[in-house]
Amino acid sequence: MLMLKEHFSVNSQGHLVIGGLDAVELAERFGTPLYVADEQRIRERYRRFLRAFAERWPDVRVHYALKANSNMAVVKVLQSEGAGADVSSEIELRIALNVGIPGDRMVFNGNYKNSRELELAISNDVLINVDSFQELEAVDRIARRLGKRARIGFRINPDVRADTHPYIAVGLRESKFGFDVASGQALAAYARAKGMSSVEIFGIHANVGSQILDVAPFEEEAEKIMALVSEVKEKFDIDIRFVDLGGGIGIPYKPGDRELHPEEVAEKVVGVISRVVREKGLERPTLLLEPGRYLVGDSCVLLARVGYIKERPGMPTWVAVDAGMNALMRPALYGAYHHIELANKMNQKNEFLVNVAGPLCESGDFLGKDRKLPVVEQGDLAVIFDVGAYGLAMACQHTAQPRPAMVLVNGGRAEIVRKRETYDDLTRLDQIPSWLK
Ligand code: LLP
Repeated sequence: MLMLKEHFSVNSQGHLVIGGLDAVELAERFGTPLYVADEQRIRERYRRFLRAFAERWPDVRVHYALKANSNMAVVKVLQSEGAGADVSSEIELRIALNVGIPGDRMVFNGNYKNSRELELAISNDVLINVDSFQELEAVDRIARRLGKRARIGFRINPDVRADTHPYIAVGLRESKFGFDVASGQALAAYARAKGMSSVEIFGIHANVGSQILDVAPFEEEAEKIMALVSEVKEKFDIDIRFVDLGGGIGIPYKPGDRELHPEEVAEKVVGVISRVVREKGLERPTLLLEPGRYLVGDSCVLLARVGYIKERPGMPTWVAVDAGMNALMRPALYGAYHHIELANKMNQKNEFLVNVAGPLCESGDFLGKDRKLPVVEQGDLAVIFDVGAYGLAMACQHTAQPRPAMVLVNGGRAEIVRKRETYDDLTRLDQIPSWLK
């Protein structure tokens, strides 16, 4: 039997229990494929994360990275805990506003913010982490037109190597993000902004990547950021008020994976920040953090019904379930591991080697290969773990598969927070041109 994370249990029938509810009953009640999110787990993770930093630094703000899971109910849960938001598109910004996160509790990140997005951000006093010189010009121009002063920080490229998938190692010097530090561009950005009438400089921002399970990249990031904070103070007399270290703390996906605790990260980065503040006599900045995966990643499972089992002599056994790469893209896109069990056979021994596939028409459409499960039968319920971050948020409609529904569970209650898509949803935006009618 595997070690289940502490918010799960198994009942007397050998069924998985989440949020006080039997997963088998949830699947019957709401259908499959079904995302199930555990509200209490999200709250616990948020509180622990905030505490880790707030116990060590007087002024901390946690901005939930909506890109991990922008479902309104999930964002509402975090808003009710007092979280701010890290948004990276117009719609994320509007979702955050909609659930009651004020604009001045948001940061806006990304290397391509269009003028509509900048306008919305500036009008709502969102802190914009500017990513290029041209974006700086655009922000200044738009703010002037709106008669506002835009609150900005600069995203710097920390040139930090982190041991993660190449697609999500965004802190490398060659990556598309941020101002280059080594060539002096980051400093030049502060100098340029100082002369602008419609921007106010508040911050500095970096992001070393995602799914990082080692503390060293965060420490290196903090060192590089703080070196720049002191240089900006010395050279231009600018006091940086927000030091934004981005997101990136990973979670264990595979049994035996190590865990990176937020306390370890907090201990190291706060150590660096307080040392530099003391040594250089700087103002104490507010520490901003943008966790996504750590807050929501393990709060969610995906339930999928086993439809068909294909056995061939000398070949892998394929188990087909009703959730594929459309429902959970991470295995196909990054070769990511998500643990799989049978939710209705949690007490049986995992002893048969199988591949688990979805219903789509390509070989990349699998959720796991060479996995051990109990004897699999038609109608069994597969459960895919740790899908709360970048799961439903990255789901798509390949082969016109409707995206799954999601329920939020808490203390024995369950409610739909994302409806299952229908034929009407998938075809609503298509139109037949007049000449074909
Ligand atoms: N802040 C910024 C500026 C980011 O770009 C990201 C994630 C975060 C915060 C949140 O990072 P987290 O704490 O969740 O690691 N789709 C990929 C992950 C992409 C992450 C992109 N940026 C995946 O499924 O693994």
